[in-house]
Amino acid sequence: MDSIIVTGNGPLKGQIPIAGAKNACLTLMPATLLSDEPLTLTNAPRLSDIRTMTALLGSLGAEVSSLQDGKVLAMSSHDLNNHTADYDIVRKMRASILVLGPMLARDGQAIVSLPGGCAIGARPVDLHLRALEALGAQMDLRDGYVHAKAPGGLKGGIIEFPFVSVGATENALMAATLAKGTTVIKRAAREPEIVDLAQCLRKMGAQIEGEGTDTITIQGVDRLHGATHPVVTDRIELGTYMLAPAICGGEVELLGGRRDLIAAFCDKLDEAGVEVSETENGLSVRRRDDHIKAVDVTTEPFPGFPTDLQAQMMALMCTADGVSVLEEKIFENRFMHAPELMRMGAQIDVHGGTAKVTGVSKLKGAPVMATDLRASVSLILAGLAAEGETKVSRVYHLDRGYEHVVGKLKGVGALIERIPGQ
Ligand code: EPZ
Repeated sequence: MDSIIVTGNGPLKGQIPIAGAKNACLTLMPATLLSDEPLTLTNAPRLSDIRTMTALLGSLGAEVSSLQDGKVLAMSSHDLNNHTADYDIVRKMRASILVLGPMLARDGQAIVSLPGGCAIGARPVDLHLRALEALGAQMDLRDGYVHAKAPGGLKGGIIEFPFVSVGATENALMAATLAKGTTVIKRAAREPEIVDLAQCLRKMGAQIEGEGTDTITIQGVDRLHGATHPVVTDRIELGTYMLAPAICGGEVELLGGRRDLIAAFCDKLDEAGVEVSETENGLSVRRRDDHIKAVDVTTEPFPGFPTDLQAQMMALMCTADGVSVLEEKIFENRFMHAPELMRMGAQIDVHGGTAKVTGVSKLKGAPVMATDLRASVSLILAGLAAEGETKVSRVYHLDRGYEHVVGKLKGVGALIERIPGQ
């Protein structure tokens, strides 16, 4: 397993290009199952999760051609010859559950392995199943698989989520596009990835209103046609790299960055003493002065502070003046980066879903271990600001959500290397 070695090297300067959003691409790709005509995605990120979704779609009989070094995904599911998403693929990536709604809507049948939990929580899929039942699907859970049927096709209905779920909203939205009649999704997720999916589905002929609000209305249609759609900018990659100049000084321009995708995060950075300004190519970020102020953070569904930036923000707060309290309200176990940051001298008190961070003047480089995607990048950020060398092991987690992280950070002056196989 590869490791990454990063050595604190002072202020950063230059530009970092931001890729297409992993979490948009992972729901846009299954949308190809809704039509027998080609769906092409541009601005796709080059990530291992995308390769996993490619393999899953291939196992169902869809064709996914990766063009232009992976930035273009030309997909066609003209001949689906298998309706079973196997455990050995699904267990690697929870987003595999997103083939359930489209397959059911297209062919009235789907067998999808339950994804199982992951490092950050149990992450059940009950809301996905309830939503599809509201559209007339019959669900049987057997041998770790969901056996879903909709013999006469799906019918429009009312779906009222008890709390916000991004994935369940995506499954419901995709399924409803081909359901007979009208579907209303209440307490829908409002994330930019949902808006991006709705815009792509609309290009394919879907009739959708209200995406980006908590109520989405869909008029089912008989069939969807092909389309070409650019994947929206990755707001989590964007926020992650904005924290690099925040934690170790300098000024970095994030190419393609859009403030509207992470307004709550930008407001928190502003409170902490980090200046975010819009440029004609994206966003430019620098500290207002040499100090970062401790600020409190509570993660919430969009438009609140994103849970996927909580670990990275904690790294910044470890070096801030004062005490900050971070509340993780979305997942039950998303502080695994804390013990690793404490190996670097951070002072963090975790109680349940709350972490109290007392800033220290300097972190010390140390060997640390990545546990999940966002935790691993928070350790890289901490290493940028630490005295000496930090060796992050198990960086395969990083490859799931960050393309060329070493190249992008090297490009702005970071001392960072990837060591194979250690
Ligand atoms: C998506 O996961 C993202 N993944 C996650 O990003 C992100 O953290 C999350 O949304 C929240 O924004 C992708 O888009 C591929 P949820 P998802 O359903 O859809 C519970 C990353 O780092 N829940 O909004 O799985 C669930 O356990 C990843 O890129 C149920 O109880 O998240 C969680 O506590 C990590 N039953 C809460 O809801 C369900 O049926 C929110 O989960 C579904 C979810």
